[in-house]
Amino acid sequence: MNQLELNSFQEKLLSLPEELDVFAGGGRGGGKSYGLAVLALRHCEQYGDRARVLYLRKTYAGLRDFELVTRELFGMVYGTGARYNGTEHIWKLPNGGYIELGQLETHGDYAKYQGRSFTLLLIDEAGQYAQPDLLDLMRSNLRGAKDIPIRVVVAANPGGPGHHWIAKRYVFQAGPWKPFVEKNSKRTWAYAPSTYDGNQFIDRDQYREQLESACPTDPELLRAWLTGDWAVNRGAYFAACLDESRNAVDPWTHIPETWDYWLAHDFGSAAPSVTYIMAQSPGDEHEGVFYPRGSVVLVDELAAVRRDNLNKGLDWTAATTAEAITEMCSRWHIKPRGVADDACFAKSGYSSGSIAEEFARKGVYFTPAKKADRITGWQFMRRMLADAGKLDTPGLYISRGCTYFWGTLPYLARDVKRVEDLDSSGPDHAADACRYGLMRLRRTASTTPFRI
Ligand SMILES: Nc1ncnc2c1ncn2[C@@H]1O[C@H](COP(=O)(O)OP(=O)(O)OP(=O)(O)O)[C@@H](O)[C@H]1O
Ligand SMILES: [Mg+2]
Repeated sequence: MNQLELNSFQEKLLSLPEELDVFAGGGRGGGKSYGLAVLALRHCEQYGDRARVLYLRKTYAGLRDFELVTRELFGMVYGTGARYNGTEHIWKLPNGGYIELGQLETHGDYAKYQGRSFTLLLIDEAGQYAQPDLLDLMRSNLRGAKDIPIRVVVAANPGGPGHHWIAKRYVFQAGPWKPFVEKNSKRTWAYAPSTYDGNQFIDRDQYREQLESACPTDPELLRAWLTGDWAVNRGAYFAACLDESRNAVDPWTHIPETWDYWLAHDFGSAAPSVTYIMAQSPGDEHEGVFYPRGSVVLVDELAAVRRDNLNKGLDWTAATTAEAITEMCSRWHIKPRGVADDACFAKSGYSSGSIAEEFARKGVYFTPAKKADRITGWQFMRRMLADAGKLDTPGLYISRGCTYFWGTLPYLARDVKRVEDLDSSGPDHAADACRYGLMRLRRTASTTPFRI
């Protein structure tokens, strides 16, 4: 391997003990993918025909990028001694090492790997996975002889649909290059950052220009890609309008009688179910904060969501959800009534009728959130978020007690194909419930004095 030249990130990456799992989380172009290829090569050099490496990408298009990297690298090191089977995406190195380039997008794809063993698992572009569940499943495929350390190395850029779970799991733990125990895998990991700036193998000025022209309307994403900072990109989608210092308010003790209130509900069973109590200010100070007339406060939240996966529900039925909503409403001394997503009003095809009817039987009354297209809804919500803190314009305020809201909204990504929309593969259920609730204002706008 002496012909190989590495950048300083890759040198550090290779110097981490093999017992450590690694999260290579950096800006674009720092040399992560190339670094993964070098790790695969070294693993095969060390363990010969016992080395079984699996490199995973979400799409076949992504795999083709890595094919090029490996062709260049293995060609340089082994000449024609390394053989690639392009149909099966398998490298066989002269030392007997086996490297498979695999695609994994759905649970259906997982069947390809079930029951098979690997000694090194490389997951590239993990930020494209909105949830970690599939990747977590893959860990069960790691098995080897006693003297071969099994290892997972994950690479990702900030700003993708998986930003939130990755940042939480790997970045906001210990500092860069410092080992920490990661709760889900119960393994010791290190976070290995990199940026294009430290990669002498590219024309850095040109690369920067390329990135700038790739995100002309998204300065947050550009910054994340340039600096590899997992905090700057606190949710590209709401980044420009959501600000804890303006939008977050301390939990209330009660809802004043002069305020209007309603529930905003996004139904889910396998997916999270989220309900907000929304209250609207008549132009009033409450518990130390002045809320201009028409301002909306998310007073309380009921989120049926699994702790380990922000995009999975608790499998509650409508009846169970209704009971929990009733309980929340009785704590606030309000009636359980409000708006819900249109899907709640579709006949489910069973004798029980629609979900809304099931709720009504339990004393929780919903009307449909008026249809506005998603983009209009998001624009309205973003406007209200941005207007919080102004003295003469209604804004949107959220109690700090709404933990699912604060745990998801800041990290939601933009839809890369439709930049004015939210990427709906992320945990967008709090955002959706909030949007439905605000649609009630649009519906009644003609009868209310404030402009929206
Ligand atoms: N050690 C190296 N020797 C030669 N070229 C390298 C080396 N490391 C990286 N490069 C080149 O630098 C470029 C960027 O590297 P790479 O694709 O690995 O970065 P990345 O961090 O995976 O980028 P992205 O974030 O876009 O996925 C590639 O063209 C790659 O071939
Ligand atoms: Mg890469």
